[in-house]
Amino acid sequence: MTIPSFDLKRNYARVEGEIKEAMERILASQHFVLGPEVAAFESEAAAYLETPHAIGCASGSDALLLALMALGVGPGDEVITTPFSFFATASCVSRLGAKLIFADVEPDSYNISMERVADAITPRTKAFIPVHLFGQLCEMEKITGMLEEKNVALAEDCAQSFGAHRTHDGKILRGGAWGGFGCFSFFPTKNLGAYGDAGMVTCFKDSDAKELSRLRVHGASDTYFHEEVGLNSRLDAMQAAILRVRLRKIETWTEERREAARRYGLLFAERSLCDEIIPPAETPGNRHTYHQYVVRARRRDELQKFLAERGIVTRIYYPLSLHMQPCFASSGYKKGDMPVSEALCDEVLALPMFPELLPEEQEEVVSAIAEFYKK
Ligand SMILES: Cc1ncc(COP(=O)(O)O)c(C=O)c1O
Repeated sequence: MTIPSFDLKRNYARVEGEIKEAMERILASQHFVLGPEVAAFESEAAAYLETPHAIGCASGSDALLLALMALGVGPGDEVITTPFSFFATASCVSRLGAKLIFADVEPDSYNISMERVADAITPRTKAFIPVHLFGQLCEMEKITGMLEEKNVALAEDCAQSFGAHRTHDGKILRGGAWGGFGCFSFFPTKNLGAYGDAGMVTCFKDSDAKELSRLRVHGASDTYFHEEVGLNSRLDAMQAAILRVRLRKIETWTEERREAARRYGLLFAERSLCDEIIPPAETPGNRHTYHQYVVRARRRDELQKFLAERGIVTRIYYPLSLHMQPCFASSGYKKGDMPVSEALCDEVLALPMFPELLPEEQEEVVSAIAEFYKK
């Protein structure tokens, strides 16, 4: 028996009828790019996230790029972000010719340390990209006041955090709702996934929404009249229709992930594995959505091999800190500069996690881990 790290087929079986109906509707309309279905998804997503605007685009990578373009990020600017994330978090900065400034992460949440962000702000800092990694929001309230004071723009990387929220001052705020831009990916394996590439940017100001809507269609407000050079980054109607179906289920699926995470925690405790495995911490005030269930493990590589031999698929997010990527060498960072991120790269292991994961599969995963550590 194989236990996959995620299983989209099991998920599809739960929505197949509704998805087929939605596909029929799009085929009947023959309206494939942007249009009413995309507009409907945008307004439903904005209502869910409680942001005034949501602008669909072609991917999460483009969402980040579009947000930074809308902010006018370019040569001479500095942009602060985490070294412990997917490549696209940082590539958008270097593609626009701005300087990447990394701030190290927290060892328990794996999210960027706001104390280090505060230390990294200079008069050249144009923007800050926090990444709500693995489905848990950063400690945003620690930095939003300072960003405003120092005139630093905010572009949240919410690619992994759809549905996550954080309670602040008695108010619940979701990723993308902290006052700047929120950049989402709907890559198929994301908690809210499309059936192809798709993304979205949320924002607060009408003028930003207008600018994003223009930038995603080659910088044209009117077809064939270009005020600026934008991208071709449109959301298509099929993906929007799929996302509308799946958005209606996201709360149920998130609760199922959270239940699976709770079960892993109990199983680790039962097997006295907490010296070998450090489970992910849900920091106070957060609703973690467990896009990934990432532990820190002693002898990680050996453990991964042992599990693979027993048909248990695990993954490493991420094996190399962004400050060590060869393509960012000109940023001037070296090994040792981001010690927490570097240590995580050697220790993290993502265990199987998806809404349909069965309790008996989790028991098998934890039994195999216990066997490896001879517990
Ligand atoms: C943290 C993070 N940022 C950005 C992206 C880019 O999203 P996409 O793959 O939709 O371009 C991803 C997706 O893998 C991600 O995990």
